[in-house]
Amino acid sequence: MQNRYFTTPIYYVNDKPHIGHAYTSLSVDILKRYFSCLGQNSFFLTGTDEHGQKVEKAASDASIDPQKFTDSVSQNFREMSGLLNLSNDDFIRTTEERHKVSVQALWKILEDNDDIYLSKYSGWYSVRDEAFVADNEIEEREGKKYNSFGSELSWVEEESYFFRLSKWQDALIEFYDNNPDFIVPKSRSNEVRKFVESGLKDLSVSRTTFNWGIKVPSNNDHIVYVWLDALTNYISALDFPNTNSDNYQKYWPGIHVVGKDIIRFHAVFWPAFLMAAKLEPPKQIVAHGWWTNEGQKISKSTGNVIDPIELIESYGLDEVRYFLFREVPFGNDGDFSREAIKNRINGELANNFGNLIQRVLSFIVKNLEHNIELTDNNKNFKTFLDIMDLEETLNSHILDYRFDEYLKEIFLFLNNLNNYVDKQAPWALKKTDPDMMKEVLSNICICIIRLTQYLHPIMPQKTIKILELFNLDESFKSFSKIEEILDMKSLKINQPEPLFQKIE
Ligand code: MSP
Repeated sequence: MQNRYFTTPIYYVNDKPHIGHAYTSLSVDILKRYFSCLGQNSFFLTGTDEHGQKVEKAASDASIDPQKFTDSVSQNFREMSGLLNLSNDDFIRTTEERHKVSVQALWKILEDNDDIYLSKYSGWYSVRDEAFVADNEIEEREGKKYNSFGSELSWVEEESYFFRLSKWQDALIEFYDNNPDFIVPKSRSNEVRKFVESGLKDLSVSRTTFNWGIKVPSNNDHIVYVWLDALTNYISALDFPNTNSDNYQKYWPGIHVVGKDIIRFHAVFWPAFLMAAKLEPPKQIVAHGWWTNEGQKISKSTGNVIDPIELIESYGLDEVRYFLFREVPFGNDGDFSREAIKNRINGELANNFGNLIQRVLSFIVKNLEHNIELTDNNKNFKTFLDIMDLEETLNSHILDYRFDEYLKEIFLFLNNLNNYVDKQAPWALKKTDPDMMKEVLSNICICIIRLTQYLHPIMPQKTIKILELFNLDESFKSFSKIEEILDMKSLKINQPEPLFQKIE
């Protein structure tokens, strides 16, 4: 069986978690849960990026020792994982010993392979992005220098080890050619390719003017550049340097889900480091877009950062999950607005999905003493067969990270089912044709259960509640369990409560 490995970026601990962090983590959570519903195994890693100049500065601004500082902020990210109901299998911190060992081992391999040499760096650096910035990428405003993300640059001049990135230019192009799906979406892939084709310069991979990092094993005056340190987390968590370990063997190479701003690190530097170390490059880099807030770029200085905890308190976790992945195609930028989330919750979750369940199950509770017989006709009911067939389409949407299309397909069927209820009018059939009424209700229930299974990866809590209304326990979230349900003679229905609160 195929084992998949999905990672989120590890988050900088200079700050509180915000919507961007939540978005990446939730996307990987959906993938993990989806494959688990299919009965397939995957490993989900997230964690925190705790070294570097930016974190050292945040700690010193707070007058706290960097280790204490990172301990406390990393904890916020762990708590966020709980609040978002993430199903991660591991949480890695770059200050852990297992990671330090792994980074130093990778460094030694690169040095032994003559891919690292000592020289001097002089140039511009973005502390916010922890990135060296080439001259042709610098923008100048009012006498200050910025990179293309608008981060202010500072001048750095110090002895530094360099990684021979230029040496890997052709190998990278060849790798992209042989793996056309390495970077998704395609538009991003072209961007990366252009950057590599324009000529790669060797990359500075150590710093000497501050201390907060992992020491270069052969020269303790240097600390490892924070991106070489951070990227290595993806294999530290699989027990690297022990490449014979179960986890490494089972899960590497992995799929990295990242925001569009950090593609270059993942799609250029990281595969080059791995190739130089004679390790397999990652399987895929999936880049998502950026959220704005009511049309405005999200930034700490504007004070418009969206706090995921506040969002969940206002709208509910599964409602937020639904909104984020229904509203915007995954690779695109998207705008968060109160009006947009309200419309999705009221129109799609409350009026369409919630209302269907509410009216059908309440009717069964009231008129059939909580009991619905499952007729054999389910197996021939055209809409149900179409819904069963949907599995293949949905699978292709997930494999291509089209979460919005995945949800669109399901909600089309929910709409159809609402129309079917209106047309068949079980409340009228009750008097004229009670057998037909039972058949109609049985058809609807079986369709709701199937669609609920499909929705589980996106809305794990609500869907479990829905299964419980049918007296089906959590194990019935597995897609294959539908057969077992079809073989049941009847289902006992619990009195439903409204599932989604309308937003005023
Ligand atoms: N520490 C690095 C990643 C190292 S991975 C080896 C980092 N951390 S971060 O905390 O700054 O950002 C983490 C993720 O949040 C990135 O994928 C970034 O794209 C994402 N987002 C930050 N702001 C965002 C939005 N406004 N919208 C969507 N995602 C955004 O980079």
